Amino acid sequence: QKRIIIAIDGHSSCGKSTMAKDLAKEIGYIYVDTGAMYRAVTLYSIQNKMWQGSALDEEALRCAMPNIKVGFKYYPEEGRSHTLLNGQDVEKEIRTMEVSGKVSPIATIPFVREAMVAQQQSFGLDKGIVMDGRDVGTTVFPNAELKIFVTADPKVRAQRRLDEIRAKGDSTTTFEEVLKNLNERDYIDSHREISPLRQAEDALVLDNSHMSIPEQKAWLIDRFNSIV
Ligand code: C5P
Repeated sequence: QKRIIIAIDGHSSCGKSTMAKDLAKEIGYIYVDTGAMYRAVTLYSIQNKMWQGSALDEEALRCAMPNIKVGFKYYPEEGRSHTLLNGQDVEKEIRTMEVSGKVSPIATIPFVREAMVAQQQSFGLDKGIVMDGRDVGTTVFPNAELKIFVTADPKVRAQRRLDEIRAKGDSTTTFEEVLKNLNERDYIDSHREISPLRQAEDALVLDNSHMSIPEQKAWLIDRFNSIV
């Protein structure tokens, strides 16, 4: 069976990573969460005090870029990977609202994207990879054999995200805050100059507003089997 590259792009919090992770497990492919990489860079900028309110010291980040190493470590007992920032497990820290609020501006910066895209491309050299993000099918792997563009109603997405946040023990974040963050990220992601979030011409669209996780998985596996 030939091994391919699968690119899953789409709006914030529409379940891309759940789908991508499930699919990768099922077909024995590597899964890479590119959003986690931008989140790790963002965490680094926060930890190293590069922010004054909503203003980022871009020059400081530029100088630090060579020292920011993002990686993944697979935990077989959990069946998933954790994100590493310079060797430290930051899987939990990169999912906070603070990081979510600063990640999209960070992801508009050309030198940040260049560094991340180069690393993402190196992960795909041997194919057999499922990668999710915003620009995987357009910029990282424009020749990916299977491209999916996922979307869902913003309110449905905000509720799903809130459920996740609640499950992690945060009882203070509100639905409105989550919805506002999603809308802001989608706006910045779709309007930035470099590789904005958009559907690749040859991508298949999946609106999963009213689909269960097993239904999405079945849909994806079907698409996969029709190609390999
Ligand atoms: O996928 P996730 O929501 O964790 O991504 C966090 C942010 O990282 C996105 O809102 C977007 O600004 C940025 N991102 C990106 N390009 C990607 C993946 C994520 O710009 N390929």
